[in-house]
Amino acid sequence: MDINQIRKDTLGCADKTFFNSAGSSLMPQSVVRKTIDYLKEEELYGGYSVANKQAEAIKQFYIEVGKLLNCSAANIAFATSNTDAYAKALSSIPFESGDSIITTDDDYISNQIAFLSLKKRLKVEVYRVKNLANHEIDVEDLEILIKKHQPKLVAVTHIPTNSGLIQDVEAVGQLCRKHDILYLVDACQSVGQLEVDVQKIGCDFLTATGRKFLRGPRGTGFLYVSEKVLSQNLAPMLIDMKGGNWTSFDDYEPIHTAKKFEYWEQSCAAIVGFTEAVRYANEVGLANIQNYNLQLSTELRKSLSEIPNIEVLDQGNRLASIVTFRHQKLELAELQKLLSNNQIYHSVSFKGSALIDFTKKNVDWAIRFSPHYFNTLEEIEEVIELLRGIS
Ligand SMILES: Cc1ncc(COP(=O)(O)O)c(C=O)c1O
Repeated sequence: MDINQIRKDTLGCADKTFFNSAGSSLMPQSVVRKTIDYLKEEELYGGYSVANKQAEAIKQFYIEVGKLLNCSAANIAFATSNTDAYAKALSSIPFESGDSIITTDDDYISNQIAFLSLKKRLKVEVYRVKNLANHEIDVEDLEILIKKHQPKLVAVTHIPTNSGLIQDVEAVGQLCRKHDILYLVDACQSVGQLEVDVQKIGCDFLTATGRKFLRGPRGTGFLYVSEKVLSQNLAPMLIDMKGGNWTSFDDYEPIHTAKKFEYWEQSCAAIVGFTEAVRYANEVGLANIQNYNLQLSTELRKSLSEIPNIEVLDQGNRLASIVTFRHQKLELAELQKLLSNNQIYHSVSFKGSALIDFTKKNVDWAIRFSPHYFNTLEEIEEVIELLRGIS
C-alpha cells in the first residue's frame, strides 16, 4: 500500500486529521473527477443521451461491487443509501402476523425502528439474541431462539455504528443455512474497511452505503441479493418499471436479477463516482486496508486507554476501526471544542441511537474516531498528545 500516493489522492487529509470515515469519509480525487466529468456531459447533452453513451461505465458498477463482495454482477442492486437497500430487502419478505425476526442488541437504530414498525403494523415478533461476555452474539442462544421461534429472518449488523465490535457474521450464516432461514447483514460500517465475502458469510441480503469506509459520494449504496432470494422470486413490495414488466392490464412480472430492487430514476453521475470509489478500494486491496486499519485502531485504543480519565468503550473479541470513548471529567462540549480547534474531525454517538448498548454501558454519549487507511500513526500520536495534555 503506497500511503504517500494515497494521501496525495486524498486532498482533504492535507490540512486536518480526518477521523470520521464511519460518518462520511474523504473521497479520492478520482472519484470527484469522474462524478463531475459525468455531470458536465449531462450539462451539454442531457441525462438520457449521456446514460446511453455511458452504458458500459454504469454497467461497470455491478462488476466492481461483485469483485468487492465475491459475487456476480447479477446479484447487485444500486441503492441510494444503506437504509434504502435495507428497506427494500425487508419489504421483499412476505411477513405475516405471527412471523418473527431475530436480531441483536447492537443492530443499527434505523433497522431496529423498521423491525418495530413491522411489529406495529403486521404483528411481527422481534427477538434479540443474548450477547456473550465478550459482547459478540451468543451463537448458541441464537440456535435456541431459531428452534423455538422458526423466524422468517435473522438480521445482524456486522459492525455497529457506535462501537468497534465485529460480529461473527459467518457463524450466524452457518446457522441460517442449516435451518434454511433468510439472513440479512447490514455491512454499512464493514464494507470498505474489512474483507467482506458474501459466499463466506452465507447471507441472503447484504447492505452498504457509499460515503463511509468505501469513500464514495453521498446518495449511493448497494444491496447484495443471493441466488436463493432470486430463485424464490422475492421482490420489493413496491417495485417500479425498472423491476417489473407490465404484462397485461392487471398483471406484471418482476425481472429476474437483483436490479428489481432498484428504481428507474438514479443519479448516474453518483453511480459512476461510486464505481470509481469501489475500484479504488479494490485496487488498494481490502486485505491491505484491513491490516493497516487494524494497526491504526489498535494503537489508538491502547494509547487512549492509557490516558487518565479517558474510558474506551469498545468491547468485543475482534474490534474494527471505530474507536469510541468518553472523558470522565470533561463535558462533551469542551472536548468537542478542543478537537475542533485542533482540526480533528470526529463524530459523537448519542444514547438515542445506541439505546441498548449505551444503556448497558451507562453512557449518554461517546466520541467516535474512525481512522482509515489514508491516516497515519503520526496523526494518532499527535491526537494522543493533545488529549494527554488535558487529563
Ligand atoms: C451500521 C449502520 N447501518 C446503517 C446506517 C445507515 O446508513 P445510511 O445513512 O446510508 O442509510 C449506518 C449509518 O451510520 C450505520 O452505521
